[in-house]
Amino acid sequence: MDYKIELKNVSKYYTMGDIKVKALQNLNLTINHGEIVVFLGPSGSGKTTLLNLVGALESVTDGSIIIGNKEISKFKRQTQFTYRRETIGFIFQTFNLFPTLSSLENVQYVADLSKLKQSKQRAIEALQNVGLGDRIRHFPHQLSGGEQQRVAIARALVKNAPIILADEPTGELDFQTGRQILKLLVEQKEEKKTVLIVTHNREISRLAHRVIELKSGNIISDGPPKDGTTSIDLLEW
Ligand SMILES: Nc1ncnc2c1ncn2[C@@H]1O[C@H](COP(=O)(O)OP(=O)(O)OP(=O)(O)O)[C@@H](O)[C@H]1O
Ligand SMILES: [Mg+2]
Repeated sequence: MDYKIELKNVSKYYTMGDIKVKALQNLNLTINHGEIVVFLGPSGSGKTTLLNLVGALESVTDGSIIIGNKEISKFKRQTQFTYRRETIGFIFQTFNLFPTLSSLENVQYVADLSKLKQSKQRAIEALQNVGLGDRIRHFPHQLSGGEQQRVAIARALVKNAPIILADEPTGELDFQTGRQILKLLVEQKEEKKTVLIVTHNREISRLAHRVIELKSGNIISDGPPKDGTTSIDLLEW
C-alpha cells in the first residue's frame, strides 16, 4: 500500500469572535511514501495545524487532502477514527498522555486499539527503544517532561503505522536524548514509513533531505536544508 500524501489548495481558517486566523493558506504539497520531511517555521506559522489536518484530527476549511488514493478531507467521523488508528502514529506537542495510566498502559492502550497481538510485549519493547524500560510502571506525574515525551514517542511507534507525525518531538529533551529520539525517527525510513517532523530548530532540520519552511500559513521554501543534510550523529543544537 502506498501512502502518498497530497494537499491540494488546502486552507485552514479559525474564527474567534470577529477575528479570522488564517492558519494555512492555499497549500499545495506532495509527500511520497517513505519520505522523511522536516517542517520548519516560527511559532504560529501553521506547523501543528498542518499535522492535525494530515492526521485527520481537524478538517480543512477549503481544498482537499488525499492519502493513498483516499480523500481523507471528506471522511466522516467514524472513518476518520479508523483512518487514524490504522495509518497514523501521532507524537503530540503536548504529549497527551492519559494521567491515570502508567507508561506501559499508555502505550499498550494504543496497541490494543489497533488490535495488535502481544500488545503488552510490544509496548514494553517500544518503551525500551526510547530508553524507558525501567519506567514502565510510572504514571505521567511521576515522570520528567522528557520522559513523558518519550512515552508519547513509544506510543506513536508501537503500532507500526505507515505515517508518523512528530510535533516538536525533542522539545523537552536534553541534547543527547533528543539525538537518540531523532535517530529512532529517521530509522523509520528503513521500515518504509513516512515521517513528518516539526521543529523550529534549523539545525535539527538538517537530518532530512527535504525541509519545508512555513511562514504565516504559507510554504516559503521546499527543498534540501540550506546548510546541507548531515548525519544525525554530527548534529548539534
Ligand atoms: N484551535 C484553534 N483555534 C483558533 N486559532 C487557532 C487554533 N489552533 C491554532 N490556531 C492559530 O493558528 C495559527 C497557527 O497555529 P499552529 O498551532 O499551527 O502554529 P505552530 O506553527 O504549530 O506554532 P508553535 O511553534 O508555537 O507550536 C496560530 O496563529 C494559532 O493561534
Ligand atoms: Mg505547534
